[in-house]
Amino acid sequence: MPRTLITSAIPYINGIKHLGNLIGSQLPADLYARYARARGHEVMFICATDEHGTPAELAAAKAGKPVAEYCAEMWQVQKDLADGFRLSFDHFGRSSSPQNHRLTQHFAGRLDDAGLIEERSSRQVYSNADGRFLPDRYVEGTCPNCGYDRARGDQCENCTKQLDPTDLIEPRSAISGSTDLEVRETKHLFLLQSKLRDRLDAWIDGQVGWPVLTTSIAKKWLHDGDGLQDRGITRDLDWGVPVAKGDAPWPGMEGKVFYVWFDAPIEYIAATNEWADAEGRGDADWRRWWRTDEGAQDVRYVQFMGKDNVPFHTLSFPATLLGSGESWKTVDYLKSFNYLNYDGGQFSTSQGRGVFMDQALAILPPDYWRWWLLSHVPENNDTEFTWEAFQTDVNKDLADVLGNFVSRITKFCRSKFGEAIPEGGTPGEAEQALGTRLAEGLARYESHMDGIEIRKAATELRALWVAGNEYLQEAAPWATFKTDPEQAAMQVRTALNLIPLYANLSAPFIPDAAGAMLDAMGAEPGWPEDVATAMGVLPPGHGFTVPDVLFAKITDEQREDWAARFAGTRA
Ligand code: 2FM
Ligand code: ZN
Repeated sequence: MPRTLITSAIPYINGIKHLGNLIGSQLPADLYARYARARGHEVMFICATDEHGTPAELAAAKAGKPVAEYCAEMWQVQKDLADGFRLSFDHFGRSSSPQNHRLTQHFAGRLDDAGLIEERSSRQVYSNADGRFLPDRYVEGTCPNCGYDRARGDQCENCTKQLDPTDLIEPRSAISGSTDLEVRETKHLFLLQSKLRDRLDAWIDGQVGWPVLTTSIAKKWLHDGDGLQDRGITRDLDWGVPVAKGDAPWPGMEGKVFYVWFDAPIEYIAATNEWADAEGRGDADWRRWWRTDEGAQDVRYVQFMGKDNVPFHTLSFPATLLGSGESWKTVDYLKSFNYLNYDGGQFSTSQGRGVFMDQALAILPPDYWRWWLLSHVPENNDTEFTWEAFQTDVNKDLADVLGNFVSRITKFCRSKFGEAIPEGGTPGEAEQALGTRLAEGLARYESHMDGIEIRKAATELRALWVAGNEYLQEAAPWATFKTDPEQAAMQVRTALNLIPLYANLSAPFIPDAAGAMLDAMGAEPGWPEDVATAMGVLPPGHGFTVPDVLFAKITDEQREDWAARFAGTRA
């Protein structure tokens, strides 16, 4: 049995994610996980919340809660929304888990043993009023270049000049506004990525068939960007994985934690460890997914993420894994995405612009969103969500094509033959042609799904639905019935048999509707062996029921209402 390990970039804990986040990694990863399972793979599908770093601390402070309590609550909120969108993770972990603490400290210890970690001193802004060091972007002040008075310590957003916090005129804390700041000496650990450049270069060159978007980003950072500079992997914060060398303390690093981007990808491994623990399994059960000396040599590892995450997954995380000198599984195929925009602008968490996961589920069931988002996934370009496009596409594809096919043929059968597959008649040329068309389409669909070409796969799936509609339109059993009821019975039987076929092929995209279709037809889930067999899966006499409306059309009133409701920013 092929084994497939799938990870989705882990969403930050601070706040509910918008639909742009969802389609940028978790939803396509779920599509692929469902498909791989249906094709008989043993799948481990992992996601988690990314809980460390300053934004998490600040969000907790804003909510007036201790950060651990805030993260626990937000994890549950994100978990419930993931369930609401039917994201079929084998485990949805937390980067603050004890398993991740242990593994992160383990990797740091191994990297240090390999001579890849160095202690360096740096000067950093300390806020007396806040009682903490301030990361660059939490120092604000006047830009020395253009005079803009709300420049951030890392960059002036007005003139785009890169800044150092000490460049700012009249600097103040972005957290409290306090100007009681001083520059203090502080020590940090640096990962000597420069020493790993050749190994990473060779490793990237060894990857066959990676998407262009992925390889070009990786190569850019490796050769002309600053991605391969040595990186500080510790921070002066309270919340995070305490700096330690494996089980041992790290002298001089007391009170510091690892940088969030160091421990976040390690959480993919730790979450698999969490899964094994939660299931009452032993370590061998998670290590066989991750250690190539303990079973993972047969695993294919596929990662999903937005393009901004690519450098961390093609350089930093592999640097951690390769640098450890241990046999950890590295990614085999990295699928990255461009951005989805919202109605003429960007989705924005900080500005509350766009539609957020909770809001989306409050107005429509998950399949509507899954279908639209997946069939418009920003694979090759940034794409845009508009309410008009959403209404048009959902109504056409889901209501007019798929939903209408199912409803029309089940209702017609019920009225003329009753709620059982009718007997009689012999398939002829039209059925032969339909079979050929479906078989060819299915082969293309499978090949796009295998290659994770999601838009092309959605197009093929839609074409399969259309083929059924066109068959029905041409066969016109309602007309045939008047002159040749036997022939009509055969046509109806043919069309009814397409429902379980469509359900099984569509399940990775629209799992709820697929389940309803199978239930109504009293059919089993399972990928079709071939179209010819699938077209005879429901024998004459097999009972069925007419399902409830699968997809109600989105009305103009609804569209206008939602467009107005989600036009501004969220409070
Ligand atoms: O960009 C983000 O949303 C990050 N939280 C992704 C982390 S992915 C990984 F490294 F774990
Ligand atoms: Zn400026």
